[in-house]
Amino acid sequence: MGRAASIAEQVLGIESSCDEMAAAVVRSGRQVLSSVVSSQNDVHAPYGGVVPELASRDHARVVSAVAEAALADAGVGLESLDGIAVTAGPGLVGSLLVGLSFAKALAYRAGCPLVAVHHLAGHLAAAELADPGLAAPYLGLVVSGGHTALYRVEAEAEPRLLGQTLDDAVGEAFDKVAKLLGLGFPGGPAVSRSAQSGDPQAVNFPRPMAKKRGLDFSYSGLKTAVALEVGRRGGLAKMSTADVADVAASFEAAAVESLRVRVRRALRSEGLDQVAVVGGVAANRRLRADLAATGDRDGFAVSFPPPELCTDNAVMIAAAGARLLGRGESDGLGLSAFSRVPVGQTPWRGESV
Ligand code: KG4
Ligand code: ZN
Repeated sequence: MGRAASIAEQVLGIESSCDEMAAAVVRSGRQVLSSVVSSQNDVHAPYGGVVPELASRDHARVVSAVAEAALADAGVGLESLDGIAVTAGPGLVGSLLVGLSFAKALAYRAGCPLVAVHHLAGHLAAAELADPGLAAPYLGLVVSGGHTALYRVEAEAEPRLLGQTLDDAVGEAFDKVAKLLGLGFPGGPAVSRSAQSGDPQAVNFPRPMAKKRGLDFSYSGLKTAVALEVGRRGGLAKMSTADVADVAASFEAAAVESLRVRVRRALRSEGLDQVAVVGGVAANRRLRADLAATGDRDGFAVSFPPPELCTDNAVMIAAAGARLLGRGESDGLGLSAFSRVPVGQTPWRGESV
């Protein structure tokens, strides 16, 4: 229809792809009117990881209260919404379906358009919302519990995948190492906290894929190396808090180093001078400090959203959805959830994955 690119005014975002149920209202794709995140740490902590069935049940319990709170905090009624944006994948299907079904019902009642958002496109949108200086083309590093990937982000085209993990995601490695070191759940922040009092050079863990060219990642070998180190020290029971901190710090240093090396490589090979780091692991202090220092030295700009926009939230979904709606895109109420979806694909619209 030749509609000029614009941004939808008031959008409610709903995110439920994993263990966070979140809702937020964003104005003009940039101004955050409200953001509510209900996390399930207490539900999953006894199991040391997310239990999908428990996640979706808890989402169903809180979804309506979370959405109501987001609307109330924003002072926005259903009738003044210009659209509802919801994560349709990738993620845990049961969890996604709760947010999706609720969003459909709400869009029907509000009589406003509904638009499906790709979870990783949402994470990237958080970077642009948080840093108005960030302008495409730039490098996007997505580091979360389910993903470790580098993208070239373009202004008009879909992000192009440059490299990704061949096995575990980096956040998953943090979570597994936390379990090995008895540090609890969620693992990333726990490992990071313990690492602060440890010596990052105490154990010379292998730098994942150090000798491999290209932009792919691998974290399962590093996780195994941590397990072997714990065994070498006679098991967790024989390790002091200081020992655990040393192993945590050495693991964190190796994990961050592999991200840093690939970011530099990708910036060089793509001829880019700015990188945005998004996803839960972008909240990691060491990653933030090391990449910022490398950027200062090598002359590239590093953009990190504030920690609350790094981990799963609905602000990023509303912001990404506002753009889609502004371009005149929307999805019908037949929308489905998908567990695996490459960035740039929209299987919820009927195309093949
Ligand atoms: O983006 P996110 O909230 O959910 C997914 O889409 O996966 O990312 C969650 C992941 C978890 O693996 C968590 O342990 C990790 O991010 N994480 C961290 C930190 N905060 C969260 N990893 C390292 N350091 C942190 N400070
Ligand atoms: Zn995420």
